[in-house]
Amino acid sequence: MIEVRNLSVAYPDGTKAVSGVSFTVGDGESVAVVGANGAGKSTLLCALVGILPASGGTICANGMAVQKKHLPQIRAAVGLVFQNPDDQLFMPSIYDDIAFGPRNYGLSEAEAEKRVSEVLAALDAGHLKDKAPHKLSGGEKRIAALGSVLAMRPSVMLLDEPSSFLDPRARRGIIALLAGIGLTKLVATHDLDLALAQNKHPVAQRKGGLFADGRASDILQNVHLMAQAGLELPLCCQASKRA
Ligand SMILES: Nc1ncnc2c1ncn2[C@@H]1O[C@H](COP(=O)(O)OP(=O)(O)OP(=O)(O)O)[C@@H](O)[C@H]1O
Ligand SMILES: [Mg+2]
Repeated sequence: MIEVRNLSVAYPDGTKAVSGVSFTVGDGESVAVVGANGAGKSTLLCALVGILPASGGTICANGMAVQKKHLPQIRAAVGLVFQNPDDQLFMPSIYDDIAFGPRNYGLSEAEAEKRVSEVLAALDAGHLKDKAPHKLSGGEKRIAALGSVLAMRPSVMLLDEPSSFLDPRARRGIIALLAGIGLTKLVATHDLDLALAQNKHPVAQRKGGLFADGRASDILQNVHLMAQAGLELPLCCQASKRA
């Protein structure tokens, strides 16, 4: 469960990236945050795990206030897949990147190895195991970054643009995989087809603040709302309107 109340986040240069945002993601719910470039989606996700400090308001994740003293427990339970996979992958091999979290939390080498194998099989990415992150394509990095978070078996996943860099088949695969993961999820995206495919409850973000919150079909297929968010209708709806 994530509860955000009146959250504001400002950068040191004074940019107010998130202003007075409130929403709740219930246990097992999947919520999309949709908004145009610069709307504040990534800033919001980083604030949820305490990477960026709130300048106002409160955040509660898994029953704990997001404050310095709780960050180790919060980060064990709430996994963030960064928008840029280069921020996530830093070890000599993908194996080590995926094993990093389990090893860091004191699991045995045998358990870490088991988790890496499971995650690579789920992502159909066994061939990436021994490769160095900087030698992967953009889409392969995206999949490996997702794996490094899944290996932690978090109870909440925050995903920042999980479908970016992916070819159509891989994108569909990730959409199906995410839809099949029964965790609490918050997905920041401007891929509205992804938002529509798996979220019953999206929130739309316009320049720092939320301005719409409701059922996916009501929000994402409302051309006026989407225009206000600086977005267009999901491709699947554009196609059906043209047909
Ligand atoms: N380090 C920073 N210092 C100052 N301003 C920043 C910083 N990082 C982001 N911003 C600003 O904060 C605002 C929100 O940025 P953010 O990256 O959260 O948007 P976003 O919705 O994730 O965009 P995108 O869809 O392009 O990923 C933007 O106006 C951006 O210019
Ligand atoms: Mg972003």
